[in-house]
Amino acid sequence: MNKKTIIGNIKMNLITLSERDSYLKALKSDIKKVKLGDDVEMVLCVPFVHLEFFAKNLKRTKIKLGVQNIFWQERGSFTGEISPVMAKEYGADYSIIGHSERRGYFKENNQEINLKIKSAIKNGIIPILCIGETLQERQKGLINDIISRQLNEGLEGISRMQAEKIIIAYEPVWVIGSDAEPTSDEIMEARILIRKILTGKYGSDTTGKIKVLYGANVKASLIKKMCLDPQMDGVLVGRESLVPFNLIEIVKGFEKC
Ligand code: PGA
Repeated sequence: MNKKTIIGNIKMNLITLSERDSYLKALKSDIKKVKLGDDVEMVLCVPFVHLEFFAKNLKRTKIKLGVQNIFWQERGSFTGEISPVMAKEYGADYSIIGHSERRGYFKENNQEINLKIKSAIKNGIIPILCIGETLQERQKGLINDIISRQLNEGLEGISRMQAEKIIIAYEPVWVIGSDAEPTSDEIMEARILIRKILTGKYGSDTTGKIKVLYGANVKASLIKKMCLDPQMDGVLVGRESLVPFNLIEIVKGFEKC
């Protein structure tokens, strides 16, 4: 069984230096309550401007760091973008790619997401590919089509060896940022669908090595549901990751699975 991975997505929060400092202080004290590294690993995807600071201050912990987006080009005239080389250099080992907020607000499509995944892998960054359907798509019965397209187009041209390094996060868009809670069956059905598509593409050995996580409205109380499906490899946490204590409670929940 894969080690469980808990990823916090800070999004565009910790907007002042004092917010950043209090967060780090609380995190450093709360992290002592969990044994990271045996069955559970933790990744924090921070705003890029805080990456160097977090890398320096979390050096002695087992928390790994990531960013929330990268550009696919490494260098040049791309005003406002962050190169994957910069992200790696400043301490990121992971990058969220294709989050629904980027697909929605910035109109990122599967082809751009595919270029970003390739560039992340080339630069030693583990891509966390976010996929998931909107409520409208779910109601129209389009889940299979949407998830298949996001996976097939997003992973176009990615070899088996490269695929093993990718993390897939299933994030139903209708749940992100809301109080909605999918049933454990709905989560499991999506996980099975994702594994089926990946198996068709890469075979079962490779697919077994690809982590599939659930994200959207994750809180400590949901972890018991997650434990019911041992093949779910972890979670991607938004809002709850803004309070270090809550994020650590989620990690503790997995340690008890
Ligand atoms: P949420 O966000 O946990 O606040 O629903 C999840 C996400 O956007 O990854």
